This record gives sequence, C-alpha cells and structure tokens, in this order.
Amino acid sequence: MKITSSLISAGLLGIAHLAAAVSVSGSAEGFATGVTGGGDADAQIPSDIDELKEWLTDDTARVIILDKEYDFTESEGTTSGTVCAPWGNGDGCQKIIQDDCGDSPSSQATWYTAGTTGIDVGSNKTILGDGDKGIIKGKGLRFRNGVTNIIVQNIQISDLNPGYVWGGDAIYFDGSDLIWIDHVTTARTGRQHYTFGFDTNTRITLSNNFVDGETTYSTGCDGYTYWTFEMVGDADEITLQNNYIYMTSGRSPALSGGTLLHAVNNVWDKNNGHVLEGGNSSARGIFEGNVWQDVTTVFGEYAGRLFVTPDSSSASECQSALGRACEVNTVPDQAIVSSYTDISLFSDFSGLTIAPATSASEALSSVPNNAGMGKL
Ligand SMILES: *[C@@H]1O[C@H](CO)[C@@H](O)[C@H](O)[C@H]1NC(C)=O
Ligand SMILES: *[C@@H]1O[C@H](CO)[C@@H](O)[C@H](O)[C@H]1NC(C)=O
Repeated sequence: MKITSSLISAGLLGIAHLAAAVSVSGSAEGFATGVTGGGDADAQIPSDIDELKEWLTDDTARVIILDKEYDFTESEGTTSGTVCAPWGNGDGCQKIIQDDCGDSPSSQATWYTAGTTGIDVGSNKTILGDGDKGIIKGKGLRFRNGVTNIIVQNIQISDLNPGYVWGGDAIYFDGSDLIWIDHVTTARTGRQHYTFGFDTNTRITLSNNFVDGETTYSTGCDGYTYWTFEMVGDADEITLQNNYIYMTSGRSPALSGGTLLHAVNNVWDKNNGHVLEGGNSSARGIFEGNVWQDVTTVFGEYAGRLFVTPDSSSASECQSALGRACEVNTVPDQAIVSSYTDISLFSDFSGLTIAPATSASEALSSVPNNAGMGKL
C-alpha cells in the first residue's frame, strides 16, 4: 500500500515537474519586445492532435508544451485534382495544385488535405517544445484576424505536401500583432516557410529560427527551396534576427508591399538563385551584421528602398534610425551593396524597439549552430 501510493505520487510529481521545467527561454528583442504569450498560465501537454488544435484555437490564455510529434498528415484525408508541371516532370521537381495549366504539362495527383490549411492560433498563447521533441507535422500555424501576444519557441513545423506548390505554408500571418517566433525549425513545405498576407502585421520578431530549405521537391528540381519568406503586408513591422537560412533559391525574402524590415545578424548559407526580390518603393529595410555565405546573387530584381550597411563609414549613419551605429554585413564579392544606402527610410523606425546587433563575424560563428529547435 505504502509503496504503491509513493510510486503514484512520484509519478504525478514527475509529470508536474516535466511541464513546469519547460519555460520560455529569454525574451523577445526587436519589434515584438514585451510579448508575454500565455504568461503564467499552467503549462499543459496536449495528449493528441485534437487537444493541441483545441488549445491553440480557443480564447483561453495558455502555455502549451509539445513533448512529442503531433502528426496531422492524414488527419483530414486526401484531396485529388489537377497539378501542373511548369518545371518539368523530373523526380525532384515541384508541381502546382492548379486547375488550368496553360502551356505546362498537367496530370492528376493526390495530396494530404491537412497540410493546405494552417491552424488558427488564438491570442495570449505560448507554444513551447520540450528539448528537441516538439514537432508539428503535416500542418502549419496561422496568425490572423487581429490575434495578438503569441510566443512560439523551440518547435519544428514540417512536411506540408512538399511535392506541391499550395500544399501548405508553415507559418502564415495576416492581420496579427505582437508575435515572437523563436528557435523554430521549418522544413519541407509545399509553399512558404513564412508568409505575410496583405493585412498589416505589427510588432513581429522572427529570431534564431532555422529555415531548412533542403527539400525533396523544388522549383529548380535541385533540392533548394524557392518559397522562403513572402513579405507583402500593407504596413508590416518585422524584425528578422539571428536566423539561419539554408539552401534557398529565392524569396529570401520577397520584401514588398509596405513592409518595414530590420534584418540583423542573419546567416544565409547556400543560395543558388537570389536572396532578395520584389519590392516597390513602399517596402523598406535595414540590413546589418548579416552574412551571405555560398550565395550566388544577393539582390535579384529589387525595387524597394534599402540600407545595406556596406562599410564602417556608412554604418555610423544608422544612429538616427537605430540609436546606434549599424554593423557591416559580410557580402559575397558579386553583391553590389553600395547602391543600397537609402537613408530616407530611417525615420520610419522611430517609436519601434530595435534589436541589438553583434558583428557579422560573430553571427557567422554562433547563428548556424544555435538556430532552430533543440538548441536552447
Ligand atoms: C489577452 O490577454 C489580455 C490581458 O490579460 C486580455 O485583456 C485580452 O482580453 C486577452 N485576449 C483574448 C482574445 O483573450
Ligand atoms: C506597393 O505596396 C503598397 C502597400 O502594400 C501598395 O499599396 C501599392 O499598391 C504597391 N505598389 C505597387 C506599384 O505595387
């Protein structure tokens, strides 16, 4: 009797301890400074995908701990339809879910329905992975319709119909506020790793994430993903800090719409297409302390306004935008950064909280090893 009850209480203590031991590490810097998510709500571990979905979407402030793989892949069955092959029918080529293929070859295919629509996360949530075990497979997360105050830390979101464009985005924002995505790994998406819709997203920080672009199907049929960051919001504010962006070929980011971007201490490694693209004159960004390594072309066709800290004399100009000098970027020889020194955008940073910066060489030595799930 005695043994049994002490075993039971040891067991209960063990469970309580596990949930309590996992807590938010650090705090958001940059535009999402001050985010609290589920705050001091009791940490809870969802038992299965249904409970996870219920807790993510309801109106209750929650701290949700993921201690296993939550596999949504087959949870909504499959859909069949027409797919187009503009990049050819080779083994590694992505196809597009689309009825009218125009001049491209078309065929019939079947994909997992769950991947095509993300889970709508409610306000006041903290979603945390335990060690390297918190994986959401086959379905992404969406932040829409005015949700605010959300932390996502130390999880992986992966395997969203990677064979098919429109098969699924990992993380989607459209009319959201005060969101911190930190130490998240995204991999093998059908479409974007991160995408921002037209509705304005304010106070967003994406930090220490591993954008793992290595994929089985791609637009180049070569294992490099094109669908990295799509930033087209009307007046978005995005801090992109300490991210490791690996094996991409485009949209890294597409920086357009009315987005205001502060890109600091990110490492782009292996890009065989181009990094930046898109833009119109209302898209703006400061790039500082970043590293582009094994990158063919940093600036694709780009029409937005940028300040891409080319040298130490221009770095000091940042004082008026950031309250300190910028850090110089490490760029490949072929990147022409001297033409991107537009300081007319500096005043747009006033009133926003600015992330700190280290040198580009420090970013190169720390970011690739510390970004993504399981690195806290
Ligand atoms: C989020 O939390 C704040 C502060 O407790 C509260 O005022 C607000 O109503 C909550 N939002 C939702 C949608 O529950
Ligand atoms: C540029 O982006 C802004 C903000 O989204 C939009 O209103 C405008 O139409 C865009 N301009 C062009 C030429 O695309």
